[in-house]
Amino acid sequence: MIKKVFKIEKGLRGEITVPADKSISHRSVIFGGLAKGKTLIKNFSNGQDPISSLKIMQSLGVEIERISENSLQITSDGNLKPPKIALDCGNSGTTMRLMGGVLAGQNFTSTLIGDESLSSRPMKRIITPLTLMGAEIHSTDNHAPISIVGHNLVGIDYASPIASAQVKSCILLAGLFADGKTSVTEPYISRNHSELMLKYLGANLTVDGNKVCIEKSELIAKEINICGDISSAAYFIVAGLIVPNSDIILKNVGLNPTRTGILDVAKSMGGNVEVLDQKEVSGELVGDLRVKYSELKSTEISGEIIPRLIDEIPAIAVLATQAEGTTVIKDAQDLRNKESDRITATATELRKLGAEIEELEDGFRISGKTKLKGGCEVEVYHDHRLAMSLYVAGLVCQKEIAIKDFEWVAISFPEFESLFNRLVF
Ligand code: S3P
Repeated sequence: MIKKVFKIEKGLRGEITVPADKSISHRSVIFGGLAKGKTLIKNFSNGQDPISSLKIMQSLGVEIERISENSLQITSDGNLKPPKIALDCGNSGTTMRLMGGVLAGQNFTSTLIGDESLSSRPMKRIITPLTLMGAEIHSTDNHAPISIVGHNLVGIDYASPIASAQVKSCILLAGLFADGKTSVTEPYISRNHSELMLKYLGANLTVDGNKVCIEKSELIAKEINICGDISSAAYFIVAGLIVPNSDIILKNVGLNPTRTGILDVAKSMGGNVEVLDQKEVSGELVGDLRVKYSELKSTEISGEIIPRLIDEIPAIAVLATQAEGTTVIKDAQDLRNKESDRITATATELRKLGAEIEELEDGFRISGKTKLKGGCEVEVYHDHRLAMSLYVAGLVCQKEIAIKDFEWVAISFPEFESLFNRLVF
């Protein structure tokens, strides 16, 4: 589907509630399926990725019933059954890597498959630690499809070479089924939703700085209320900051500090983003944001903040095109292993719109403020985040742009355009 995007002259105004967090939705349905009892999940995401996790848990014998548009009821005795089919993770790296950890500790064999993009993404990062724990995994060249022959696992102390919540969560989930203690230490702290939810459901888990330890535990079902996704809010934050005359409110946004790098960046660029109200819901911090159009200046982004904004970098690149000076983003080489090579894809497509953006091995150098010309067609490389970032760039282009294959947004955010239209008057 080709989506045409036009310049917004009057600014964005109004209030919206961004949909459920994708990372927490995956975890709710996977951990809920492993927990004994009935788990009520409120505000589950409609994105295709979390639905891949849901369907896989159903294929493993977990009873999951949709009780309203966004609520699920899971009934489980805590045990999984051998699947009759290959488990299809679709486009979702989170599903494949988290399920890899769960399945390694079962007493049956299973196979995880994915779409073309997922089948080209690296799985060695989970195969190596799981194999050290005693798992038997077969793949071609460390890529999906991966077959997992269930075995008794033993705990390990693993120093992860990368700050990745998917790798960390995979090992912690295998650790739930392993004899002894399992620990993961990462170079910088990545999103900690697994730690918070596993603890909330009763796992024997401790955190000490960058190190997380878990012991074999039984999870007990509890109600899980999922907050809004700051990664989805990011497109509105950037749009509110760069479209002149904007003043918008984003309700119920997850503000877990391991995810709020974009707020720190917006602040360092002089962006007017205010946290209005903050509370804790199901172990996660949540609040409302007010975003106003701002005169922005460039910034430098590197090191420990990278995992705290990893999925927002294409949107931040758009922000940087509208900031005075040169913004440098470094230490983000893992962006090349996402749904697309997000460094090459973002630089190539923003350049088509007229941005001054240089691709670095591990990030970008972006000069601004640029009057984006637009007037052309852009590609999304099977990548939902690129599609939404280009849409936001289109709002400040001089001439209409056409985004090809825009339907990829449904991977995380099917409601994206209808919510946007609510802010246009
Ligand atoms: C995710 C972790 C991140 C992120 C992805 C979701 C998660 O990936 O990019 O969109 O839910 O754990 P990495 O762990 O590979 O950095």
